[in-house]
Amino acid sequence: MTAAARSPHPRRARPERGEQWAETSRCRVVAARRFGAFTALELLAPEIAAVAWPGQFVMVKVPGSGFLLRRPFSVFTARGDRLGLLIEARGPGSERLADAQVGEALDLAGPLGAGFPLEGVRTALLVGGGIGCAPLQMLTDALAGRGVPVMAAFGFRDGRQARVAAAFDIERLWVATEDGSVGRPGMVSDLLAALDAPPSATVFCCGPAAMIAAVQRWAAGAGLRGYASLEAHMACGVGACHGCVVATKRGALRVCSEGPVFALDEVVIP
Ligand SMILES: Cc1cc2nc3c(=O)[nH]c(=O)nc-3n(C[C@H](O)[C@H](O)[C@H](O)COP(=O)(O)OP(=O)(O)OC[C@H]3O[C@@H](n4cnc5c(N)ncnc54)[C@H](O)[C@@H]3O)c2cc1C
Ligand code: FES
Repeated sequence: MTAAARSPHPRRARPERGEQWAETSRCRVVAARRFGAFTALELLAPEIAAVAWPGQFVMVKVPGSGFLLRRPFSVFTARGDRLGLLIEARGPGSERLADAQVGEALDLAGPLGAGFPLEGVRTALLVGGGIGCAPLQMLTDALAGRGVPVMAAFGFRDGRQARVAAAFDIERLWVATEDGSVGRPGMVSDLLAALDAPPSATVFCCGPAAMIAAVQRWAAGAGLRGYASLEAHMACGVGACHGCVVATKRGALRVCSEGPVFALDEVVIP
């Protein structure tokens, strides 16, 4: 069986070697809002917003000298001609992008990667950890458009991180914080049992490896299927350099082109 035939993403035909071609566009920042440790940018990006699929990402060129590689960011929202990104400043590149000003133009390549499959989803349970929540708003919008009921559980380190929950428009959203300052004290995985997800629920998760491993164990125990969006250090973002491979039950796969979304039960967390 070919990788394409086994892929959980029937929507996208894969090129021969899994490489993609990235359209680049200059996109003007039209809004920038701070939510604690995160910045939500809204860009005028009609070409990307028109074709983006939940779970896909864009490679963003960081303005200024010394930034050779583009940085990957999930599509947070795609509404009309606007593309939303949610940025956590973790290092020099994301710090610069989190400081982008309204009116500034950023160079984006994408949308890239294989997003979340939506076919056959009857009820959805979304699980996000920290900045891993970013792709889950566009997923919520797409599911709502198909009439699929959504419940979400987000986990954050502390109250400052949890302020980003206000950037989301998800009706049934539960929050956990490790320091207990907002929502349920503890890890997001502790919330899952309390949510009483129906047996028909599909789990969609994105966050740190330890969270994905915990969700994987819980979903297996509850008999639920699902998908996980993974992160990896990226260079090209289009399947050419093999710098982003992760272990899966199908062998080593590239997060940028075969992922970032994989079936939850095929992910191997080291
Ligand atoms: C598919 C994908 C989607 C992503 N979506 C988002 C998003 O929506 N919002 C967001 O804020 N960030 C997102 N990231 C992470 C983001 O790309 C990195 O934080 C950013 O590239 C770091 O660049 P930097 O120059 O700021 O920091 P660097 O100096 O490159 O690194 C700073 C710190 O972040 C760690 N880091 C760098 N890149 C990654 C990575 N890819 N995964 C995990 N840790 C990393 C480094 O180990 C280091 O500790 C995503 C990553 C991937 C692969
Ligand atoms: S980043 Fe180059 S192959 Fe994935």
